[in-house]
Amino acid sequence: MADELDNYYETILELTKQAGKLVRDRLTNKKNVEEKDADIDLVTETDKEVEELLIKSLAKKYPSHKFIGEETAASGKKQELTADPTWIIDPVDGTMNFVHGFPHCCICIGLYINFEPEIGIIYNPSLEQLFTSRKGKGAYLNGKRISVSGQTELNKALIMVESGTSRDEEKMRVFKANQDKLIPLIHGYRTLGSAGLDMAMVALGCADAYFEFGPHAWDFAAGTLLIREAGGVVIDPSGGPFDVLSRRCLAASSQELADAIIKEIVQLYPKPRDDE
Ligand code: IPD
Repeated sequence: MADELDNYYETILELTKQAGKLVRDRLTNKKNVEEKDADIDLVTETDKEVEELLIKSLAKKYPSHKFIGEETAASGKKQELTADPTWIIDPVDGTMNFVHGFPHCCICIGLYINFEPEIGIIYNPSLEQLFTSRKGKGAYLNGKRISVSGQTELNKALIMVESGTSRDEEKMRVFKANQDKLIPLIHGYRTLGSAGLDMAMVALGCADAYFEFGPHAWDFAAGTLLIREAGGVVIDPSGGPFDVLSRRCLAASSQELADAIIKEIVQLYPKPRDDE
């Protein structure tokens, strides 16, 4: 199994770099932009092309592997996670940023085997930031080991959040309530426009926590392993175990900080889940 995992890792690194070149070369070009289920949930030809490149290449090399991909899922297909090796792919996370040429978007790829993350890669090609992790082997930025800040105190925390890709009324109400509650209690509140990059900042130790209600498995899969391998926690925002298909995530540099955030925030349970 170790040799197989090495092989999967080498393959996906090479493909991620190829895909990254496409994203980097097109960041400031004019794009063909389509709206998905909400008028601020966007997709470009590059999202589709990158997903196709990754899935076709992986499927050719590993015919028994399964896939959960953002643009494939846009067809309305219910996502299923089984024990089989499953690549969970967001070809361009932060598509809104990509559309505007704002250099904070990334390719997120997680490999799950037996329901556990084994490989997590987040690549921001515009800033040449390649975050990599393998289960039990640590988290890295451009080959250099990284770790979470270890911050435990809410009043010293820099927290990453996102308003998401829909204007759903209940979601906006919860977002505003949490913003009003947290801002007076913490050091700072930040939004990068990419769940994957928010999680990478927690792994890197330059942000202390991230939480969001509404993203999907492809937004969380890579960052989950990256943060855990960097020494942080990834759990459900109610305090229970993290479920990658639940569309809910709280990541923090310590369990103490996660507990302090949970005490303050209002919860939201987005429907449908990714497997509904
Ligand atoms: C979105 C971004 C955004 C987050 C959304 C995600 P996409 O991913 O990560 O920051 O708030 O929840 O869906 O659509 O750009 O791949």
